[in-house]
Formats: sequence, C-alpha cells, structure tokens
Amino acid sequence: MRLTPLKISEYKREGRKIAMLTVYDYAGARILDEAGIDVLLVGDSLGNVFQGKSTTLPVTLDEIIYHAEIVSRAVCNALVVVDLPFPYCQLGSSDAIRAAARIFKETEADAVKVEGGKNRASIIAALIDAGIPVMGHCGLLPQSVHQSGGFFIQRQRDNLLADVKAIEDAGAFAILLECVTSEIAKEATEILKVPTIGIGAGKDCDGQVLVFHDVFGYVPPENKRPPKHVRQYADLKTIITEAAKNYINDVHNANFIIK
Ligand code: KIV
Repeated sequence: MRLTPLKISEYKREGRKIAMLTVYDYAGARILDEAGIDVLLVGDSLGNVFQGKSTTLPVTLDEIIYHAEIVSRAVCNALVVVDLPFPYCQLGSSDAIRAAARIFKETEADAVKVEGGKNRASIIAALIDAGIPVMGHCGLLPQSVHQSGGFFIQRQRDNLLADVKAIEDAGAFAILLECVTSEIAKEATEILKVPTIGIGAGKDCDGQVLVFHDVFGYVPPENKRPPKHVRQYADLKTIITEAAKNYINDVHNANFIIK
C-alpha cells in the first residue's frame, strides 16, 4: 500500500521527517522504493539531468508522462508526485486540470507538483477541486528562470511567507521550498500546518528532497563538483568510469570471460 498525501501531511504532526528524491526510470524507482524512500518525484529536472538541457522549460507533457508511467509502475510503497511541466499552470486552471488529468489517466501517479506562490493559489484550488492532490513549490522557481534572471537563493521573507500561506490555504498537502535561506525556511515550517520539504533550504524543514543524479554522483565528466546545496552520497561517475575501463580493456585484450 502506497503512502498517501494525507499520510505525508500527518507525518508533520507525528514529528516524522520526510525523505524525498527525484527519479526517472524503473530500476531507480524500484531500488529507492525498496530502500524505504517516502516520496518519489518525477521532476521536470529530467530536462537537466536526464536530457542534458540547461533549463526545465523544454520538458513536454508527453515526456513527463513517459517517465511517470515507468516510475509509478515500479513503486509499491512511496508516494509518487509528478511535476506539471511548463506552461500548463501558466495557461490557467482548465489547461492545468487537463494536463494533470492526462497524468492521472496515463500513469499511476498520486499527486502533481505546481511551481509558484500566491499567483498559482487559484489554480491549485481548482486542481484539488478536481480531485487531484497538489504539492506546492515555492522559493526558487526553475520554470520562471527567464523572469527571475537566474538561479539565486531566495531572501524575500515577506513575499515567501505570503506565498507558502496562500498555497497552504489553497489546499496543498505539502510545500517544497527550493533555495530559500534557512531562516525563512525555518519560519515557514513553523507557521505552516502542512510539511515543508527543502532543497537548499537548511535543516529545519519537515523533509528534504534531492535530485537523483546529484545525490548519487551520476553526472557527466565535466561536472567536477556537486551544487553547493547537494550532499552527495555516492560517486557513480567514478564507479561507472572504472568499470567501463575494465570492461573495455578486457574486450580489447581478448580477456573477456563470462564467469
Ligand atoms: O524537478 C525537480 O527535480 C524539482 C527539484 C527542486 C526537486 O522540482
């Protein structure tokens, strides 16, 4: 039985921290689910880490659905959340509902994630009214990178607190806080009834989320060190490079034996 949005909200009252990771493929989703992850996000970060693009903006609804179908088929225990890609929320409630409905019809996802603050509250309320659970996403908003002019730590306390409150009032079951100062994240966590899940937002959130490729070091050779907010738990780039070199040597030297 999978975790539900309601159960994730209750974790806050019970004082249980929420562990969340992104994932985009079947094996990864099976491994993380078996390891006991609480929430899996099919994030539009797949545009960056899976497709090698510089922003999340090019990710299409068809692409998100392709990955969400694979991931949600793999998962037995975790809650599966799927990003609503650009620009369905930006287009208004009916486009957002249509996109989320496709995600729900074509995958076994449990909830969608919506980027934005006060300006998205009515859309979040409309999605929830349509029976679609929503995780909010405030702070740094990668879908608005051209508007904000880059990827910066968010420091506008009053705006951010008004945003998270509006999203909670609209009915979101949890709120992801991206690249917010630890002081603002702590304050938001204290004033909200629903859990906050931070990335680059300090240690005081109700949960933490990281991107699969960052946390396991599955990154291209040119990525020399992880982003500042990332704690890397494995170094797959080095492991794969060494294994690949051993395999290539064995084949080149006619030394490839199946044991
Ligand atoms: O798409 C994504 O991976 C995200 C991260 C901030 C977790 O939203």
